[in-house]
Amino acid sequence: MKTLAYLQMIQGLAYLVLALAFVGLSFGLTQHLNLKELEISGGVCGVVFLPKNQFYGADSLRLSISLGKQLFKNNCATCHHKNMKDNLTGPALGGTQSRWATFPKADLYNWIRNSQALIATKHPRAVSLAAEWDYSVMTAFPNLTDEELESILNYVEAIYERRH
Ligand code: HEC
Repeated sequence: MKTLAYLQMIQGLAYLVLALAFVGLSFGLTQHLNLKELEISGGVCGVVFLPKNQFYGADSLRLSISLGKQLFKNNCATCHHKNMKDNLTGPALGGTQSRWATFPKADLYNWIRNSQALIATKHPRAVSLAAEWDYSVMTAFPNLTDEELESILNYVEAIYERRH
């Protein structure tokens, strides 16, 4: 009888150890998966798995913003304040897209690629900007692609709205 009670106790302990190991393991696994999930979805964690492609939009915006940051630093930061709110040699860029919203997107791209050429076409926004800034000439960036310009503008807005 005594031996039986002893055996039962050992069995009980064994179950307890197993249960603890299981909890520990699943916790570790969840942590691991969460980390993975964080990498994939960029910010969504938890044990609920959502399809990866639901986050491609957010991920590509993130990529675009980081490309824009580099391009801005290398090409624009000498004249445009990096807080996007204060003027420097050139105007604060925050809100640029809404100021150009009544024109085709290509106009804003053309401005950045060659502001003087756009002023020469008597584009109303270009003409008024030039006058407002006393005809100081912005550097031309003919080599920036649409994607690069888009990313600079995404970065500008992200900083302006403090999303970054
Ligand atoms: C040498 C200084 C200088 C550099 C470098 C420069 N800018 Fe400018 N930028 C200006 C000035 C000055 C203006 C005001 C208009 C004018 O006189 O040309 C301006 C105006 C602008 C505007 C119009 C803003 C509005 O409110 O409509 C945009 C957009 C712009 N710059 C984007 C850029 C981007 C993007 C870069 C980098 C790829 C850049 N600028 C680099 C000087 C510069």
